[in-house]
Amino acid sequence: MVDSGSIGLHDLSFATTRFVLPHTELARHNGTEIDKYHLGIGQRSMSVPAVDEDIVTMAAAAARPLVARHGTDGLRTLVFATETSIDQAKAAGVYVHSLLGLPSSTRVVELKQACYSATAALQFAVALVHRDPGQRVLVIASDVSKYDLDSPGEATQGAAAVAMLVSADPALLRVEAPSGLFTADVMDFWRPNYRDTALVDGQESISAYLQAVEGAWKDYGEQGGRGLEEFTAICYHQPFTKMAYKAHRHLLHCCGEDTDDALIARVLGRTTAYNSVVGNSYTASVYLGLAALLDTAEDLSGQAVGFLSYGSGSVAEFFAGTVVPGYRAHLRTNTHREAIDAREPIDYAAYRDLRGSRLPADGTEHLLPRQTQGPYRLAGICDHKRLYEPC
Ligand code: HMG
Repeated sequence: MVDSGSIGLHDLSFATTRFVLPHTELARHNGTEIDKYHLGIGQRSMSVPAVDEDIVTMAAAAARPLVARHGTDGLRTLVFATETSIDQAKAAGVYVHSLLGLPSSTRVVELKQACYSATAALQFAVALVHRDPGQRVLVIASDVSKYDLDSPGEATQGAAAVAMLVSADPALLRVEAPSGLFTADVMDFWRPNYRDTALVDGQESISAYLQAVEGAWKDYGEQGGRGLEEFTAICYHQPFTKMAYKAHRHLLHCCGEDTDDALIARVLGRTTAYNSVVGNSYTASVYLGLAALLDTAEDLSGQAVGFLSYGSGSVAEFFAGTVVPGYRAHLRTNTHREAIDAREPIDYAAYRDLRGSRLPADGTEHLLPRQTQGPYRLAGICDHKRLYEPC
């Protein structure tokens, strides 16, 4: 058995969509003052999937570089976290397993609890590796966030996938054992099976998030967790980047600490670089925050990073990781920046066209035009079966 402190993230990679809608376009359409988006919620643009992109194509694109670098030896589990599931029975990870050519001796499963489930996946992965340190687990978080058109939530959409390889003796981050947990049955945000956009009570969702931060932190302390002052940075779930600031200010206030803006910016600033231009990627959001932190910060070797994962409904978890010395040699900073910079800006009319595109629900064959620039695409649907292919 290895000590659980020497298990964690060995590699991390993300992928997003071909298109991006700048908030200036949305503001032009709905007459909102742009500062509300840029300053009020802290968002500048949001990723928008092409017609042949979805949670599977983004997930496979995010995981491909991990398999290319590390191979499949010891890889026996793939956990797919999402709240924008494409099937009520089949796990989206099975399509990814096939696209990546993973061994048949792999356990594949999908997990759901709004934006939180990637953290459950990560903790389950750590436990599996603890039982057998020779194994590695692929954790993928992939989501497309959609709210009703012309609703307040529309400005907080986005899409991305993060793939993480969990192993013993990790190269990036050791996950520490204490975890603070919190669950409360609230209807702040949900999506019944018959809807493809989420229902949300915006202000209630912010209060529920803050209540969950407080609860998870309290439990973290009771489990013997670190003090707040020990964290160089904290990656919060970021439905919009200003939410991380609200959450951290609330936490400092609850702990009776100084809520100085410059101090808060020092702890959070680096974690928001990708989320502010990708938008809400639900399950992937907190780990996109980690990617931004690792890609942009000065050397963090040996330093403690906190994670606050929140999923509406609601479940939250606070845990910590220690950055592994030498981690910078393993980052994918250039590829990450390219994924963001390569997106093609679209205008509001093009965004509405993409939002209007729907697969038939009656089993008829429907083939999709090639739009994605990614390595995999959804080619269409036939007999109710989704058809994926490499590009
Ligand atoms: P809204 O009603 O459009 O905006 O909803 P608002 O009026 O609350 O304004 C937002 C901020 O902009 C305010 O700042 C304004 O003062 C400011 P705050 O008071 O909050 O600090 N503002 C301006 N600032 C500068 N210049 C201006 C200006 N005008 C206004 N001219 C809301 C915003 C986020 C509620 C909406 O977009 C929404 O409903 N989003 C979806 C729900 C959401 O993201 N909730 C977050 C917590 S729940 C969560 O994180 C879980 C989730 O990811 C789902 C999951 O778990 O699966 C959503």
